[in-house]
Amino acid sequence: MNWENKVVIITGSSKGIGKAMASEIGKLGATVVINARNIDQLKNAQQELEHQGLSKIFTVQGDISIPEDCNSIVDSVLTEYGIIDILINNAGVFADESPLLELSNDTFKKLLDVNLLGAVYMTKAAMPSIIQTNGSILFVGSAAGFHGLGGHSAYSCSKMAITSIAQSLRKELSKTNVHIGLLNVGFTENDEQKTIYNQEGKVIPMPDRGVGKKDSPQNVAKSAIRMIERRKARMTLTFLGKLNSLMSRLAPWLVHIVLNNAYHKNRSN
Ligand SMILES: NC(=O)c1ccc[n+]([C@@H]2O[C@H](COP(=O)([O-])OP(=O)(O)OC[C@H]3O[C@@H](n4cnc5c(N)ncnc54)[C@H](OP(=O)(O)O)[C@@H]3O)[C@@H](O)[C@H]2O)c1
Repeated sequence: MNWENKVVIITGSSKGIGKAMASEIGKLGATVVINARNIDQLKNAQQELEHQGLSKIFTVQGDISIPEDCNSIVDSVLTEYGIIDILINNAGVFADESPLLELSNDTFKKLLDVNLLGAVYMTKAAMPSIIQTNGSILFVGSAAGFHGLGGHSAYSCSKMAITSIAQSLRKELSKTNVHIGLLNVGFTENDEQKTIYNQEGKVIPMPDRGVGKKDSPQNVAKSAIRMIERRKARMTLTFLGKLNSLMSRLAPWLVHIVLNNAYHKNRSN
């Protein structure tokens, strides 16, 4: 695949996995559109990518949970380049562990607004151009979307819903040449600047998660590239992610027991 003439939008790319995707895809020669809400962090990311020698970085600030912002992100790209080849719906937010009863409605809504509706609004805005270019729409899902996690009802729900959106679109677009992919990411090293919401919806630094071996954002980015090049429908990353995916289909009762024990053990610590 020749990336040199491709225009790629990556939502939520001022840090973490999105920034790693911008770097890896930029190194292949593509024009990369980076996006986030915080303009200072976005400009820092642009500078960092340009220091890596990437000259085709286009920065568009915008909040994907606002439909008008999504339309204006897409309009800016079309005005500048005329086409969009690839959309990576990466932007996502996470909340600190909290049982549903203690999670504010506002925090629950914030997660769905960004993780689910943001991806929907961006997809709808970019789709007409991507149909013309026979391009790709990649959704960033999560192993948390295979089986509802205790303490993360809103996040699991948003990522399960992303799976369903990807499945529906594959049918709706099956008579076009658009590739729809779902990349289920496992536990990944976090950006030092990563923030999450607490149960009241306040932004707090991401606490350290004592999980085993974590994937690297660069590895996730390379997997996204492989999926797009091979036009793969679904890919699940990390050993635990693959195990969870398999067992959630074969023995959901067993996954319930394991995750239930893990949740209550964590709560009692
Ligand atoms: N890290 C993991 O272990 C892991 C595991 C499974 C799945 N994932 C998924 O992978 C994706 C990236 O995760 P990450 O850990 O790299 O996240 P991150 O480090 O927290 O970065 C999130 C990015 O999204 C942007 N963003 C957040 N809300 C936005 C909005 N409304 N509009 C536009 N941009 C927005 C953030 O910038 P601003 O705040 O400035 O907007 C930032 O650039 C997410 O979809 C996440 O659910 C991550």
